[in-house]
Amino acid sequence: MKKRYIRHASELVTCRGNAPKHGKEMSDVGIIKDGAVLIHDDKIVAVGTTEELDQQINKEEYEVIDASGKVVMPGFVDSHTHFIFGGYRADEFSWRLKGDSYMSIMERGGGINATVIPTREATEEELVEAGRERLNRMLEFGVTTVEGKSGYGMDCETELKQLRAMKKLDETHAVDIVRTFLGPHSVLPEWKGKEREFLEEQLQVVMPKVKEENLAEFADIFTEKNVFNIEDSEYYLTKAKEMGFKLKIHADEIYQLGGAELASRVGAVSADHLLKASDEGIHQMRDAGVISTLLPATAFCLKEEYAPGRKMIDEGCAVAIASDLNPGSCFTNSIPLLVALGCIYMNMSIEEVITALTINGAAAVDRADIVGSLEAGKQADIIFLKFPSIHFMPYHTGINLVETVIKKGETVYH
Ligand code: NIG
Ligand code: FE
Repeated sequence: MKKRYIRHASELVTCRGNAPKHGKEMSDVGIIKDGAVLIHDDKIVAVGTTEELDQQINKEEYEVIDASGKVVMPGFVDSHTHFIFGGYRADEFSWRLKGDSYMSIMERGGGINATVIPTREATEEELVEAGRERLNRMLEFGVTTVEGKSGYGMDCETELKQLRAMKKLDETHAVDIVRTFLGPHSVLPEWKGKEREFLEEQLQVVMPKVKEENLAEFADIFTEKNVFNIEDSEYYLTKAKEMGFKLKIHADEIYQLGGAELASRVGAVSADHLLKASDEGIHQMRDAGVISTLLPATAFCLKEEYAPGRKMIDEGCAVAIASDLNPGSCFTNSIPLLVALGCIYMNMSIEEVITALTINGAAAVDRADIVGSLEAGKQADIIFLKFPSIHFMPYHTGINLVETVIKKGETVYH
């Protein structure tokens, strides 16, 4: 058995709990000063002060790791990304800088549909190799679990290819990958006006194959004006749930359509974006236990107003923050950027942002019982920061503070 003992962490941030934290609970990240963690193989077996754990064990049996002067905390869970895709859309970014909008580019045939052809043309191997590079970059930022979506094929073959690429990466890369089927990501010109038929095809042809090969745990849809309306989205999500998929939804991003309310009605695990969520929708998500996943780097890149994170927390919601890494609206997986935007523009405290990136992110991918906190029984997914306090995270603005990443008990980045 491999035994490791981390001791003398200036701040051991436990984020303890097996469930999402709501409202005020988000401010408590369970800091232990001069903290210590015991690891046996891939699991945490104890946390406490260095003094407490020193008394419990024979240090000779352990590889001892000194964490003095450092924060030790759970690996980040990036619970919303589209990291498997072909091609890039740098041209769209420069058009937007000149005043074009995301929706007008989409209406001209750009946007998500512009990523479809290069993704269809890429081989599975090419998607795996590009994905591996992106996962390496995530690991450097301390991300140890990531959610990834299909949605750039919009035909059966390519959707399955994207999901298979992620499955292969999950088996061969240190970062754990939670896979989501997002066939209804956009409406290709040939399906305009026939959205319901497109959804039927997803439900009857594509999704049974996804199930058969166990390629995705979640089903997701882009519910938006000029994409999928509430009625069609409700139909799709309800059927997907009957097939055994857990649910996510891209909701109320550009227009207020009632996506937050829909997520609550169908019992989605998370509703994501939510820039325009209504007050009623916020209350319903809280009452239905839907995680509100906020993607502030997308709002930043699109120059949109930020989601009302402060209000959601004050109203008692469980808020997660994720990157939304994708080739169009948000080509970044920078955790320091998310920290800065959460603290500076969404008026969240650093404790709330940490909760949103750890235990609540884990809950958004239904893994809160396995990752997202440091406590006995959890997977040993642990990161070290170069500074002694969590307050350096927003203060040393935009800088990656991650020094070491331990995944399932092994050091995978240093
Ligand atoms: O979450 N909003 C829809 N989907 C993505 C954008 C994907 C793209 O532009 O390629 C999002 O922002
Ligand atoms: Fe997205």
